[in-house]
Amino acid sequence: MSTNNVALDYESKVQQEAVQHKELVEWVKKTAELTQPDAIYWCDGSTEEYDYMCDLLVQGGTFKKLNEEKRPNSYLAFSDPSDVARVEDKTFICSKRKSDAGPTNNWMDPDEMKATLQPLMKGSMKGRTMYVIPFSMGPVGSPIAHIGVELTDSPYVVVNMKIMTRMGKHVLDQLGTDGDYIKCLHTVGAPLEPGQEDVSWPCNPDTKYIVHYPEERRIESYGSGYGGNALLGKKCFALRIASTMARDEGWLAEHMLILGVESPEGEKTYVAAAFPSACGKTNFAMMIPPKELDGWKITTVGDDIAWIKKGPDGRLYAINPEAGYFGVAPGTNYDTNPNAMESIRKDAIFTNVALTPDGDVWWEGMSKEAPEGIIDWHGNVYDPSSGKPAAHPNARFTSPAALCPSIDEKWEDPAGVPISAFIFGGRRSTTVPLVYQAPNWNFGVYLAATMGSEMTAAAFGNVGAVRRDPFAMLPFMGYHMADYFNHWLQFGRELSNPPRIFGVNWFRKDENGKFVWPGFGENMRVLKWIVQRVKGEISAVESPLGWVPSYSDMDMTGLDFSEEEFYKIMSIDREAWKEEVLSHEELFSKLYDKLPKEFLYMRELMKSALWRSPETWGQQPERV
Ligand code: OXD
Ligand code: MN
Repeated sequence: MSTNNVALDYESKVQQEAVQHKELVEWVKKTAELTQPDAIYWCDGSTEEYDYMCDLLVQGGTFKKLNEEKRPNSYLAFSDPSDVARVEDKTFICSKRKSDAGPTNNWMDPDEMKATLQPLMKGSMKGRTMYVIPFSMGPVGSPIAHIGVELTDSPYVVVNMKIMTRMGKHVLDQLGTDGDYIKCLHTVGAPLEPGQEDVSWPCNPDTKYIVHYPEERRIESYGSGYGGNALLGKKCFALRIASTMARDEGWLAEHMLILGVESPEGEKTYVAAAFPSACGKTNFAMMIPPKELDGWKITTVGDDIAWIKKGPDGRLYAINPEAGYFGVAPGTNYDTNPNAMESIRKDAIFTNVALTPDGDVWWEGMSKEAPEGIIDWHGNVYDPSSGKPAAHPNARFTSPAALCPSIDEKWEDPAGVPISAFIFGGRRSTTVPLVYQAPNWNFGVYLAATMGSEMTAAAFGNVGAVRRDPFAMLPFMGYHMADYFNHWLQFGRELSNPPRIFGVNWFRKDENGKFVWPGFGENMRVLKWIVQRVKGEISAVESPLGWVPSYSDMDMTGLDFSEEEFYKIMSIDREAWKEEVLSHEELFSKLYDKLPKEFLYMRELMKSALWRSPETWGQQPERV
């Protein structure tokens, strides 16, 4: 039976006739005229509604209910093989002027895009229900939060949005009669003719568009039912559209996790950290410190996005605009991320992981060997000798943040948490040291703007080559990247005591290609130094890149990591850095027309510091 053309017999607590926001009702009606759904359903956001919707998805074959004993109240979906990830080449920033989108974004004239989308949208919801999802990014009513309304023909989107955002009637109440909201229109682009049987994962395998109109603050997404393409609150709103709002309104919308570091004395310091995709952001956000670092504790505010505004005291306050995690499952286990494993013990949605014979889930890395008789993400009995993974490498879990054991007590505080440091990191097997502190805000912005990561999947070019990913925002910028750099520089000028800025690299390898730093919970040692620096409690050594710790400043208690090894991953190789700094030119020339002039001077200063430094700076322990 089809999920989508089943008449809903659950009565929503929101009836269109009673909705006070006339303009919103008009937009819903106009969109329905265009997309021609069989019915319009306003989501109330209740648990009963969620359960009802999950039942519908089970009946329609999209969801399998997992074993209630092993994984209570949890479901698994297999997507269409063509619909497994964000589609960057089909993602557009349609600002009026091309120069406002900048050279790092796909751009199309808004009128031209509308002319392209109009015929696709026409009748696109035929045979389906259009769901109206009022949602808040951030705690409802928080001065840092903003509201969106997503119209979608996908019940899978509805239940995921229930976990990932605050959604339902209370958001409509907050909107009142004329509140501002971001218009988010989504269709899987798979209309049903009368009598046509639905498929378990409707989407348009050939045509997909993820479109942003920054001036109108609107999003339109066509053809995909998956994650970042379809849950429009996440990357589309909370990063691409919000980044333009943040520029215009003087705040920051960032691809950053937020965590709290609690000292043994009970003092809490919050930091926000940006890493490109596939650098273990969720693991870092939920890290459990090694037991030797007695009394230090990490708490989680968010694992992917931070919205940051100036507070009344002039400090920066951040919220996690999301209410759940949409995390990558493969590689997650009780060693790499016990808190994530605990968060998904119940009430979770899994997408494209494998199904075990006893109705539970499995993915590569959960255990060494795949259990016998599992079903892979294609829905077939898994053959381990095929050499293919049972779970798709981008398989996901969706889980409520409240279930995370390390969740911070202030994670829903409408005022946000005060940020004391920004951390930027990429995946670099050479060149970049384990940790360094930018000498000041401007150099920190330069550090973040020029950060890069080695590619782990062939999607964007050569595996292993460095992809510059400024602020880890490359796929998520809503406007010209160089204007964004200028926004950060200007933002810093207005702060009397700005957060300190650090670079980190967990991924440096030795001559034999082995990771030198153990990573995961041991990253706490680096965080401890960062927090002590922020509080002015510990000294640092001046390097050509900024301030760095000496071995004696790092708490290595209980870790077998020698002074020699430490200086190896802290070393700054002059030739490698000459190349590194020269390669910044590639990014700069792409952005030349709007590049901050400061960057050219900073690059010169870095060059001169490097040119006069020893061939391999910092390798000899005696240096301190
Ligand atoms: C994500 C990403 O899914 O950054 O969060 O790609
Ligand atoms: Mn992300």
